[in-house]
Amino acid sequence: MEKSHSRATFGGRISAVLVTAGSAVGLGNIWRFPYVAGENGGGAFLLVYAGCILLLGLPLTIAEFAIGKSTRCNAVGAYRRLAPRWSIIGYTGILTSTLILGFYFVVAGWTAEYMLHSLTGEIAARGEAESHRLLFERFIADPWRPALYAVAFAVATQLVISLGVRRGIERAAKVMMPLLFLALLALAVHSILLPGGLEGLRFFLAPDFSKLTASSVLTALGQAFFSLSIGLGTMVTYASYFTPSTDIRRTAWQVTAVDTLVALLAGLVIFPAVFSAGIEPDSGPSLVFITLPTIFGTLPLGGLWSAIFFLLLVIAALTSTISLHEACTAYLHEEWRLPRRTAACCTTLVTVLLGIFASLSFGVLNGWRIGSLTLFDALDHLTADLLLPLGGLMTCLFAGWHRHPKALYETLYRDPRLGIGDRTLRFLLRYVCPAVMVLLFLDSLGIG
Ligand code: TRP
Repeated sequence: MEKSHSRATFGGRISAVLVTAGSAVGLGNIWRFPYVAGENGGGAFLLVYAGCILLLGLPLTIAEFAIGKSTRCNAVGAYRRLAPRWSIIGYTGILTSTLILGFYFVVAGWTAEYMLHSLTGEIAARGEAESHRLLFERFIADPWRPALYAVAFAVATQLVISLGVRRGIERAAKVMMPLLFLALLALAVHSILLPGGLEGLRFFLAPDFSKLTASSVLTALGQAFFSLSIGLGTMVTYASYFTPSTDIRRTAWQVTAVDTLVALLAGLVIFPAVFSAGIEPDSGPSLVFITLPTIFGTLPLGGLWSAIFFLLLVIAALTSTISLHEACTAYLHEEWRLPRRTAACCTTLVTVLLGIFASLSFGVLNGWRIGSLTLFDALDHLTADLLLPLGGLMTCLFAGWHRHPKALYETLYRDPRLGIGDRTLRFLLRYVCPAVMVLLFLDSLGIG
């Protein structure tokens, strides 16, 4: 990567935070977190999740930032440069990003459908949760519409990506993230005040450890990595666009804090509403798409609020698909030397195909099973419960144990500015993170 000096960079400190937060905050926080927390017992899961973020997520984010910033390469190129044998981390990351995009486009398509539906008044007009459930189930089983929405979403991602790093990615993140945050805050207050809302609040905040199993701890870990966009080299790619003055530790703290706050807020919106409307908290991926429209139905001008909210969700999803897409595109562009636009088209093509099949797995292809799972569920669980923790484990082994070239060592451990201390960081990356992950893996394989 001799021409690395001519690579694009993000505009500055604020941009680095907003753009990486744009990648982190997405459907993972608002769609996936509540449904996974609901399936794993609520409050106790939240506590374990917070532990995963602080002890594993934060150090790994710093490590990925350091790897990207010091090499200024895509995920595969970065490891190849530092230690060729470890480039397996980069390859696993690119593969996993592709798989994630495959189902992410589908859910992102649902949010786009709901945004347009809200404008036609169809969402707010239905009162009961049950009627929203029927609408949703009919929609996702349709052979055409959801697949077309997924394709449309992929095309939108491709358009932003081909505008380039600065004009496309940075601009999209800057305006929309703060708006999403405010909307969630307002909705959380409304939701808690609904009749029966406090019971939901209790479910979400009061830990009941009897519901917690070792596999839910692994789920919490996978969810933490998914939400922070780590373990796959997405953050390596993004950090490769940081300017030299970007402080990686401060950025990592800020991104983790924002990301966790948004997930927390999403929980405060969803669970009170779930209990108020009498929905089962463990109803899985459909949870948000039934609960949110039901809340909007209780608001004056519900259709308008619903449209605004789903629009923000579309944007949050878009800033995340952009980052996953960018990781693959940067790899094809820099390693295979394809022109940037061709690289982007290849990524879109492959992921769109996966997306179409994943979308059809709710309807006509429902009989195709991998084990007992549909393609959609298989992609969701294979990536979040296995590949992401595995990528994370390899990344921390690399960051904690490999003898680093000077530039990486200094970026990772010798940054004099504020943040967690170097020794703590090193201890976490060397011992705590790998030990926790290995134990969880062994446990989920039924060994030990
Ligand atoms: N973090 C995003 C979300 O919460 C999804 C995402 C974007 C992601 N890039 C990633 C997940 C890289 C894992 C790895 O919606």
